[in-house]
Amino acid sequence: MTIQRTEVERTVFAVVDELLEAIDSDYEAAVSADTWLIADGGFSSIDFVQMTVMIEEQLGSKIGFQDMLMQHGQYVDDLTVGQVVDFTVERLANPQAARPAAAAVVATPQVTGTGARITEEDVAAFSRLIKPRRVLPATGRKNKRAVFILSPPRSGSTLLRVMLAGNPALFAPPELHLLSYATMAERREDLSNDHSAHLLDGTVRALMQTQDWTGEQARAFIADCERDGMSTREFFGIIQTGLDDRLLVDKTPTYAFSEDILRQAEDCFEDALYIHLTRHPCGMIRSYEESNLTRMMPLMMKNSEFSMTALAEMIWLVSNRNILSFGQTVPAERWFSVSYEQVVSQPEPSMRRLCQFLGVDYHPDMINPYSDSKSRMTDGVDSASKMSGDLKFHLHSQIDPNAATRWQQFCSEDMLGAQTLDLVANLDSSPASVRL
Ligand code: A3P
Repeated sequence: MTIQRTEVERTVFAVVDELLEAIDSDYEAAVSADTWLIADGGFSSIDFVQMTVMIEEQLGSKIGFQDMLMQHGQYVDDLTVGQVVDFTVERLANPQAARPAAAAVVATPQVTGTGARITEEDVAAFSRLIKPRRVLPATGRKNKRAVFILSPPRSGSTLLRVMLAGNPALFAPPELHLLSYATMAERREDLSNDHSAHLLDGTVRALMQTQDWTGEQARAFIADCERDGMSTREFFGIIQTGLDDRLLVDKTPTYAFSEDILRQAEDCFEDALYIHLTRHPCGMIRSYEESNLTRMMPLMMKNSEFSMTALAEMIWLVSNRNILSFGQTVPAERWFSVSYEQVVSQPEPSMRRLCQFLGVDYHPDMINPYSDSKSRMTDGVDSASKMSGDLKFHLHSQIDPNAATRWQQFCSEDMLGAQTLDLVANLDSSPASVRL
């Protein structure tokens, strides 16, 4: 079936329109072929990624947009809507022109980290911005064993989750965002806003898979749980009941914002297993900046005086400190450390070691994360572009080892505060070393 230019135009224009609205762009003129996405529309790099995922979804075809975003080894500075249309039309006519994907995003051209280094006072001020959570007193029988992937955001946690989802002995849905709340109703109240509502979808997607429900059925069931005052622990139990012998894997990076939240896992689950996923702070900071993650952060953090670079570094530092401090209270046989750098550069040995730790057989599909998007739940509830987790996952088409060291083109460790460097040195002497 050939897709006509007019259909491509209609699709691209509609997607750009939808995104301009979603990001509250100041651009008021009608979108035309001459509209510049960054200069006029105010797109960030993650908006580009979202646009490409949405276009591919709506046209039902993999276009290979990484070649449009990266040209002659350089990221493009900006694109017009017309250029996106031309590229898409050309690719649909010549699909074989696509080359294997490399990680590609529109460049944020400046070099990261020209500001002052963060201090311990900054970290204390940042920690005060993190909202304390009300947790339920742990009573009654614990839920059966579950696995938690613990990491700051932008550490490759989506990729790791999807790799684990390729193992038939594991059930690894998108971010569940349950442990941070006492009840389902509190969770709804906290996440029901424009920037966070998509985070409510991980539980919907999980129930669709375990109960064979539509999104609508799963949403209606969750609404009942919220109305009935159900605890999040009981809800975890409902997901687990649908799994037979499979182990539930929950990857929700915001759990690491608070040690109180992490402790909930010990209080609510029988002998939970933990995977500490690390990444070099410069890689995480660069990734955070490129994804403009601050936009998704709670207002308190977004409106703070910290620069985006400083916020990213402190999220890396505070999350890893919380994880390591919590890890001191967990028996060594229930704790496993691995770095993003190891996962992408040595996928098979990393997955074999992980399987040994989890007590499940290795399965070759684990290192083929782009096969079968439905069973791996990378398709989102309504669309992949709304999947909670990393949208950039969709820009790659295989595990990309170069992604581990890409930050070195933009940043150096000189930008990091002394506390961050201390923690990197600490990790270096552990199995979670972030150096290759
Ligand atoms: P970059 O932004 O540096 O590219 P998280 O899921 O924890 O938010 O992590 C996001 C990071 O994982 C992004 O890093 C993203 O590109 C990377 N990632 C996603 N899929 C990948 C793949 N197939 N190979 C290598 N890295 C991948």
